[in-house]
Amino acid sequence: MSVQDEINKRRTFGIVSHPDAGKTTLTEKLLLFGGAIQVAGAVKSNKIKRSATSDFMEIEKQRGISVATSVMAFNYRDKKINILDTPGHKDFAEDTFRTLTAVDSVIVVIDVAKGVETQTEKLVKVCRMRNTPIIVFINKLDREGLDGFDLLDDLELKLGLKVCPLSWPVGMGQRFQGVYNMYEENLNLFRPHSKQATSDEFFKITDLAAKELDERVGEKAADELREEVNMVREVYPKFNHDDYLNGKVSPVFFGSAINNFGVKELLDCFVEIAPGPQPRVTEERQIDPLEDKFSGFVFKIHANIDPKHRDRIAFLRICSGVFRRNTNYLHVRQDRKMKFANPTSFMAEKKSIVEEAYPGDIVGLYDSGNFKIGDSVTEGEKLNFKGIPSFSPEQFRYVNNADPLKAKQLAKGLTQLMDEGVAQLFIKELNGRKIIGTVGALQFEVIQYRLKHEYGATCDYEGLPLHKACWIDGPADEIKKFCDRRKKDIAKDKDGKLVFLAESAWALNMARENHPKVILHYTSEF
Ligand code: G4P
Repeated sequence: MSVQDEINKRRTFGIVSHPDAGKTTLTEKLLLFGGAIQVAGAVKSNKIKRSATSDFMEIEKQRGISVATSVMAFNYRDKKINILDTPGHKDFAEDTFRTLTAVDSVIVVIDVAKGVETQTEKLVKVCRMRNTPIIVFINKLDREGLDGFDLLDDLELKLGLKVCPLSWPVGMGQRFQGVYNMYEENLNLFRPHSKQATSDEFFKITDLAAKELDERVGEKAADELREEVNMVREVYPKFNHDDYLNGKVSPVFFGSAINNFGVKELLDCFVEIAPGPQPRVTEERQIDPLEDKFSGFVFKIHANIDPKHRDRIAFLRICSGVFRRNTNYLHVRQDRKMKFANPTSFMAEKKSIVEEAYPGDIVGLYDSGNFKIGDSVTEGEKLNFKGIPSFSPEQFRYVNNADPLKAKQLAKGLTQLMDEGVAQLFIKELNGRKIIGTVGALQFEVIQYRLKHEYGATCDYEGLPLHKACWIDGPADEIKKFCDRRKKDIAKDKDGKLVFLAESAWALNMARENHPKVILHYTSEF
C-alpha cells in the first residue's frame, strides 16, 4: 500500500463527554465492532471511578492502567481508526484539552436525560476554537429523557453547534422502539438486552408513509415518527459534508451504547464522513500530511508514579511523512538528534513496537525527561507546532519550599512536572514567588506527593484566591503601561509570557475597561 493510501485510511478522533454520559461504554462497543476486543468490560479499567475522587493514589493507579488505553486503534471496513482516550474526570481537563489538539475529529456523547452538561460545554468550546468536526451521539435512549427537539435546542444554545439530525428515535424509555436512520433511510428496531455486536435488525423504509412502518412499530408511534421526521426535515438543514468538515454543522445520532444500539449507524457514518489526517499549523508554515518528510509533536506525557518504574511515555502525533524506528530525528527545542529504539503503538489492550507510523497515528516514546508538552520532532526542519495552548487554571496556590536544603531538587521537580503538564507554574514579577495553577484540587496533592517521592523535595502551599490567569496581548506600549500599573498582579508563565492574575471577575472587567487596548486572553495562544 502506498504511503498516500496509508494516510488516507487513518481516522483519528476523540470521544468527549461529561462523566457518566457513556463514553467508556461507547468506546467499548466501537472496539467490539472493530474486533479490537472480544469481550465487554475490557476497557472499563480506563475509567476513573467516582468512589475514588478523593483518593489521588487510586486515581493515579487507574491512570497508570489507562496508559494502555490512551490510544485504541482498530480496523473497520477499509479504515484504520485511532481513538484517543480523554480522561472524563474534571481535574484532568487539561489533559483532555491537549489530547484534542491531536485529533482530527470528535464524537460528543450526551446523556438523553441530562442534556448538555458543564464538562461537555468546556470541551466542545476547545474543539470549536479549532473548528474540529463534531458528531453528536445522544445516548441512553432506553431511559426516559428530554424531548428530542429540546435536546437539539440545548446543543445549539449551550454548545453553539448548528445541528443536523441524521437519525431520529422512535419513542424513548419504555416506549423506545428504535431509530430511523435518515441518512440511509433505514429503520433499525430495538431489542433490549441484545448485547452482541451485530444484533441489529434493519428495515429499509424509504417512504415513511408506507404501511410497513405501522406494522413494525404500531400506528401511534409510526404517526409520531412521521410528524417528527417531517419537522426535522423542515427545521434543520440537509446534511452537507463540507459544512461538517469545516466544523460548521454537527450530525446528531440517537442510540443506547449499553445495548449496542445505534452504534453501528454512528460508526458506519463516521468512517464515511469523518476527515482523515488534517494539516497542522506551525509557527513557520502549514504542514501537510502528505509531505515526504516526517514531523510530529508531543501532546501528552505520562509519568509513572510508581518509583520503581520511573520511565515516562511521551505521546507523539505524527503530522507528516513516515515515522521510522531507530532513525535519527531532530528534537527541535533541544536542537539535537535523537533516535527511538522502542516506539510503541497501542491496540486496545495490546502494546507493541512499531517499525513505521503514518500521519494520524500516535506513537509512545519512552522518555527520560527530554520532552515537554508541545515539543516538535522532525526530520531536520526547525518547526514549532502551534495549537497546544495552556488554558487559564481555576485554582491557584503559592508554592513554598519546606526544606531549605532541597531547594535545587524542588526547582528541578517543579520544572519537570510542569513540562509534563501536571499543572502550570507562574512566577510573580514583583517578588519572584512561584504560583501553581491547576484545573482541580487533586493536582496539588499529586504534585506534593511526586515531589517528595521522585525528587526528595518537600513543599507546602499557601492559598491564593484568584479568579483567572489571563495572557496579555496588545500594543507594546499599552502592555507596558498596564503592567506598570498592575505590577502586583503580573506574572510570567513557563515560556516567559506575561500573565495578568485577576483576583475576581470584577477585577478582570475593571482591567478591561480601564485598558481597552490591552487584550486579556484565557488561553496562551491567540
Ligand atoms: P463515562 O465513560 O462517560 O463516564 O460513562 P460510562 O460509559 O462508564 O457509563 C456510565 C453509566 O451509564 C454506566 O453505568 C453505564 O453502564 C451506563 N450506560 C452507558 N450507556 C447506557 C445506555 O445506553 N443506557 C443506559 N441505561 N445506561 C447506559 P454504571 O451503573 O455507572 O456503571 P456499570 O456498573 O454499568 O459499569
